Amino acid sequence: MRKNIVAGNWKMNMNHQEALALYNGLISNESEMDENVQVIIAPPSIYLSEFSQIKSNRIALAAQNCNENEKGAYTGEISAGMLENLEVQYCLVGHSERRAYYGETNELLKKKVDALLQSERTPIYCFGEVLSDRETGNHFNIVKEQVIKALFHLNEQQIIKVVFAYEPVWAIGTGVTASPEQAQEMHEFVRELLAEKYGQTTAEAISILYGGSCKPANAKELFANPDVDGGLIGGAALKIETFVPVVNGFIK
Ligand code: PGA
Repeated sequence: MRKNIVAGNWKMNMNHQEALALYNGLISNESEMDENVQVIIAPPSIYLSEFSQIKSNRIALAAQNCNENEKGAYTGEISAGMLENLEVQYCLVGHSERRAYYGETNELLKKKVDALLQSERTPIYCFGEVLSDRETGNHFNIVKEQVIKALFHLNEQQIIKVVFAYEPVWAIGTGVTASPEQAQEMHEFVRELLAEKYGQTTAEAISILYGGSCKPANAKELFANPDVDGGLIGGAALKIETFVPVVNGFIK
């Protein structure tokens, strides 16, 4: 069966002291976290090296981004191979902020996914429509395109290694959350796309996370949906008091 996953995306927040205190605080609270959930933290990449030396039984680390090239003259970038070297298992790919502010396209993201799989890292592939797409009823088409263009060149053994994260852009950092029905509808749609291309068994094995103002007050109803396998959490991941209850959102 597929994994339940809750991943915290810290974005560009917290100085070194604050970040270290939060990470250590989460580790001290590990016994409070539902053991059936894979917990992942994506801090700013400058902290990954230090965090990877701190022993945790429950928390895996993710980068927020990596470059598509193996190495070379790409000032400011980090490679998938560097993550492999630090044993950072996961990496976000195609977060909407990267698409919007850094012009990341589906074609580029395809290369990032390939680089990560090459280094045996797990891409957490983010996708989702902007508000105008939803208002014009174009949201399914947009999501289909984002998923197909960046991922459908993969074979069955490769696609099964990818974690999916549906993040409607209108819900990110806005306090507006997709309703449980809207989340389920899109997750089911994506799983059907996967089933058509790779077969039902493969589609059923892939985790699809929801992101966008997911917090303690709504995590339970979102995670109760059959095709919602966890969350990618921004704002609520910055405090132990809000992140741990989201991790525990699967507990009935
Ligand atoms: P949010 O961010 O939880 O603050 O809406 C989610 C994300 O960007 O991954």
